[in-house]
Amino acid sequence: KAAEKGGYDYFMLKEIADQPDAIAETLLGRLSDRGEIILDEVRLTDQDLRDVDKVFIVACGTSYHAGMVAKYAIEHWTRIPCEVELASEFRYRDPILDRSTLVITISQSGETMDTLMALRHAKEQKARVLAICNTNGSTIPRESDAVLYTHGGPEIAVASTKAFLTQLVACYLIGLHLAQIRGVMYADEVAAVVEKLQSTPDSLRTLLGQMEDVRALARDLKTASTVLFIGRHVGYPVALEGALKLKELAYMHAEGFAAGELKHGPISLIDEGTPVVCVVPSPAGRGVMRDKVVSNIQEVRARGARTIVIAEEGDEGVRAYADHLIPVPSTPTLLAPLMTTVPLQILACEIAAARGLDVDQPRNLAKSVTVE
Ligand code: G6P
Repeated sequence: KAAEKGGYDYFMLKEIADQPDAIAETLLGRLSDRGEIILDEVRLTDQDLRDVDKVFIVACGTSYHAGMVAKYAIEHWTRIPCEVELASEFRYRDPILDRSTLVITISQSGETMDTLMALRHAKEQKARVLAICNTNGSTIPRESDAVLYTHGGPEIAVASTKAFLTQLVACYLIGLHLAQIRGVMYADEVAAVVEKLQSTPDSLRTLLGQMEDVRALARDLKTASTVLFIGRHVGYPVALEGALKLKELAYMHAEGFAAGELKHGPISLIDEGTPVVCVVPSPAGRGVMRDKVVSNIQEVRARGARTIVIAEEGDEGVRAYADHLIPVPSTPTLLAPLMTTVPLQILACEIAAARGLDVDQPRNLAKSVTVE
């Protein structure tokens, strides 16, 4: 077992460290020399994909959070309406599906019963079904029209880490591919995003080398009674994922919110010293979202919150409002979750370890949930 953990105390820490390689593997062979996306396992014709007029993404748990990020990217790049839904809710609401609907399932294991039942329902309604999956030959890809495997390698720890980042990469590839074949993006625009994707493993290696402060912070937070997470745009699913990780591993109360919703209720939870993790969008571009999140940080701080701020390197303006600043390498806005999620994984893992808990096998949870 010790050898399998590659010198780390837990599988989860090894899997976090494996993420740059896992992303590189998922990208491997998927890009032509001209920067075009090649998805050869997708057994849907280009015409099938051109006919798509609506996308549904269905998944559970961490995979659902990957789907939430994917919605922003797919709608932005392809201009096709895209909805994300918890697999356990999907079929019970009788969603409107037909031949021109593309249903994308996201599942690490490929065996999650809720996701499988959603997929079967979509097929009965004649929708096209595409699986993003990490487990070769598992049930969900076998029953789908097409599959894009995330080549993340086996994930042992119950809490998902590298599977999540590779799912994001797979979603980005699908979004770019759809945009490309539908003529919504020019080849050079696709190539520019692809180049940024290809540089993420290196940026991630740098980030992983700078996590000492996060570990120290984790030891400090181990007795907190609640931890709140806020984010906007793609930072919102990252906030949800950060909170989920903490619940799963440290058995602590944690909640993620869309930063703009604070004023509609959650801000009343803030008390003297309440830790609030804030995921700040990149200041690049017009920086409107970044400025809004910064004012949300000021609001919670004015009410006594202890702010833990994840922001792009060089964004010096946030420093004044951060009790703890966690800088992450610069990335285009839509790709930012590939960076901003990682300190949250480490935070949850280290808090759980500091509380003496079983990081790899949290109580009451299973790696793959094969009951509805
Ligand atoms: C379980 C696991 C989670 C995972 C979820 C979905 O709850 O503990 O880590 O995100 O199932 O699993 P899947 O294999 O479908 O991605």
